Amino acid sequence: MVRIAIAAASCLAFFACIAPSSDPAGEDPKPGPTSNPPHSGHEHTSGKADDLPCAIDALMKAKCQGCHGDPLLYGAPVPLFDVADFEHKDGKEALADVALRYLKGEGRVMPPAPNTRATDEEIAAFEEWVALGLPGRGDATCGEHPHPPDKMDPPEPPPPGTCSDSPKLAPASKYTLGTSVTDTYVCYGVDLPKSAKRRQVIAMTPTLDNTQVLHHMIVFTASKSRSGTPSPCAQMESDWKMLYGWAPGSTGSQMPKEAGFPIEANAVTHLVVQLHYSNPSHASGKQDGSGVELCLTETLRDEDADFMVFGGTSFTLQPGKKLRMVCDVKAPQQLAPYLPVNVFATFPHMHKLGTRSKLELIPKSGAPTTLVDVNPWDFNHQISYPTDVQMKAGDTVRITCEWHNTTPDPVYYGEETAEEMCFNFITYYPKITVAQWSYLAPLQLSTCTNTDLP
Ligand code: HEC
Repeated sequence: MVRIAIAAASCLAFFACIAPSSDPAGEDPKPGPTSNPPHSGHEHTSGKADDLPCAIDALMKAKCQGCHGDPLLYGAPVPLFDVADFEHKDGKEALADVALRYLKGEGRVMPPAPNTRATDEEIAAFEEWVALGLPGRGDATCGEHPHPPDKMDPPEPPPPGTCSDSPKLAPASKYTLGTSVTDTYVCYGVDLPKSAKRRQVIAMTPTLDNTQVLHHMIVFTASKSRSGTPSPCAQMESDWKMLYGWAPGSTGSQMPKEAGFPIEANAVTHLVVQLHYSNPSHASGKQDGSGVELCLTETLRDEDADFMVFGGTSFTLQPGKKLRMVCDVKAPQQLAPYLPVNVFATFPHMHKLGTRSKLELIPKSGAPTTLVDVNPWDFNHQISYPTDVQMKAGDTVRITCEWHNTTPDPVYYGEETAEEMCFNFITYYPKITVAQWSYLAPLQLSTCTNTDLP
């Protein structure tokens, strides 16, 4: 049984300029928002033709070049600057056709969450450009860009004086990426020493080192300690509970002001930092030492936050077929004194065959609220989504997962990447402390129905 859970990554879509930051080797990674020159406005990269039609150029600057820029950032494999970039064929399809599919959300969404998707108008302009055969700009002069470029800076740390202690989660040594694989999951452990006082985690700020290869990062609590030297790891291990997630474009890293994640007194807390690296060019010698700075407070907030998990584990994905599983759970009567609870983030989790993950709150009467609907699901871009809803007595929580088994074999529930999952880890407060309650209870109490999809 997988036991994971998430938290505070409040990921909101945002715009602005990029801050590529790569610390010189050997230096203490001191990232945070940098003041590097942004790749915005009319700056152009050397050797690139400035020939995209104005509307396409504006779209690329606003929503794509934050990663597909110069340098390529956050694992983006190709630059998107000029007509030649889009004419390029990787396989049988020109990049323009792939880009159009992703803009529309067919199979994958670009830009990836939490960044703002292209508008219908922008997609229509791009589609027309592709239909016309990718004409250049000609003699047109483009005016100011209507939208500011996407912001990929990491979130700001909390103001000085907020934290009674700010432990830095950093690897014992930098990790050197291999050249043979494109995507790798690497983990290192950090133990927070015992403290005589009970504390709460109230914010987490990423400390980014090599933004060319860092795709996203997650912090888990674990039941045992792990080496501080980064090494390849599973995407999730059974005793991990997710505490914080960061992906390029994520902004919030602060807990709701009433709540914090408890760090109990007189106990060592084991944490694991997981880094997803992308090295699409298979370049050698790429190193990274990214981590997270925690903000702990001894001035306890009124409420403790916690996790719970929704989902289902009974499904069989037949080869070539599509399946939808819907699992409902209603809070048991014994919980009534602890409700309502405030849900502030959700983290959907499926594996590679997943195509959609949705979480809804269905009140006793009235319209359902959608907490998150990741459609299409993208295994490569798993993040947490901020939300702000109250779960009351009598409410039903419904999780919907859809898959397309494109493999020649049946696929079942399991922890291996080749197996499948349907979970949503939510973070909420105040923490439910009734005996017999476990954060897995909603999963164990849910009733699921499976339907074949055409
Ligand atoms: C937050 C960073 C980011 C932003 C912003 C972004 N991309 Fe990507 N893109 C990636 C990454 C990383 C990949 C590699 C595949 C993966 O990990 O999903 C990728 C892959 C692609 C690919 C496939 C390239 C190939 O060679 O297969 C296309 C096409 C693409 N993106 C288009 C776009 C377009 C168009 C936009 C803007 C509308 C955009 N992307 C915005 C990060 C980004």
